[in-house]
Amino acid sequence: MYSSNNPYRPLKAEVIEVIDETSTIKTLTLKPEDKISFETGQFIELSVPGVGEAPFTPSSEPAVNENIQVSVMNVGKVTAKIHCLEPGSIVGLRGPFGNGYPLEVFRDREIVVTGGGCGFAPLRSLLYELFSRHGWYKKLLFRGGCRSSKDMLYKDEILEWPSKHDIDVVLTVDIGDDSWDGPVGVVTTILEDFEVDIPEAVAVVCGPPIMMKFSTQKLLETGFRMENIYVSMEKNMSCGMGKCGHCRIGPFYACQDGPVFRFDKICHLPNIWD
Ligand SMILES: Cc1cc2nc3c(=O)[nH]c(=O)nc-3n(C[C@H](O)[C@H](O)[C@H](O)COP(=O)(O)OP(=O)(O)OC[C@H]3O[C@@H](n4cnc5c(N)ncnc54)[C@H](O)[C@@H]3O)c2cc1C
Ligand code: FES
Repeated sequence: MYSSNNPYRPLKAEVIEVIDETSTIKTLTLKPEDKISFETGQFIELSVPGVGEAPFTPSSEPAVNENIQVSVMNVGKVTAKIHCLEPGSIVGLRGPFGNGYPLEVFRDREIVVTGGGCGFAPLRSLLYELFSRHGWYKKLLFRGGCRSSKDMLYKDEILEWPSKHDIDVVLTVDIGDDSWDGPVGVVTTILEDFEVDIPEAVAVVCGPPIMMKFSTQKLLETGFRMENIYVSMEKNMSCGMGKCGHCRIGPFYACQDGPVFRFDKICHLPNIWD
């Protein structure tokens, strides 16, 4: 098992596979030189030698820790270089960092998981963890939205989940086309008519800030309680260890106190969705 006295020293990992998911997102399977254990929802810092590092939440099942998968959207300097990696390339990994999803709290509950765009990545890890815990949850619903059918991360895999696992899935796209015969509209349009006991149910929200803002608002309007909603705050991060202050949200450091927060803990703080 990986352990280093120097938390800034990355562990070497080899890129085993690169999957083109969408025009902007690739999934990399990484084989660390030593096993890394992480809890679903925690994040790692991935570094490209000579370029820099950036935080990502693994999209793979935590139990399978020989290899680790990350799904990366190309948005800038480090992520552009990650998109150029090929099988055999060597990267660095630090972590895991932060608090993941509180699985004990989810036990015996009805759970509504809501994702948008690249937010499907951490949620895939959470859902595989829940699938593996037979009888852990009372009911599991996934509601996901993407810009279009071709921008939908893991589309084929997600469409198979209801036939393989105990989950109810509804997906929507902002812009419909010939390849899509499901609902069309932003994700909030499918955040209603839940067959769950709403005041007692747990909701998990992960996606771009604008999606999280309006989805959380919609869930509250629908009757979900603030203390039952969990959001992932992807603030700018650097050290990942509560030292540099980059990721501050009021009194909290997103890298240590998050990235997963119970909504009632942060809802009163300014600019949480910026
Ligand atoms: C806990 C956590 C988990 C994340 N998980 C994933 C994931 O699974 N997949 C994924 O594709 N992305 C994820 N991100 C976002 C990812 O870290 C950023 O996209 C990445 O750091 C951008 O680096 P860059 O050098 O390519 O971009 P830059 O050249 O630095 O900037 C490009 C744009 O991205 C924004 N940006 C830069 N750094 C961050 C950051 N740390 N967080 C948010 N926005 C940033 C900038 O404001 C700018 O608009 C996560 C972020 C955090 C904090
Ligand atoms: S990333 Fe440095 S304090 Fe959170």
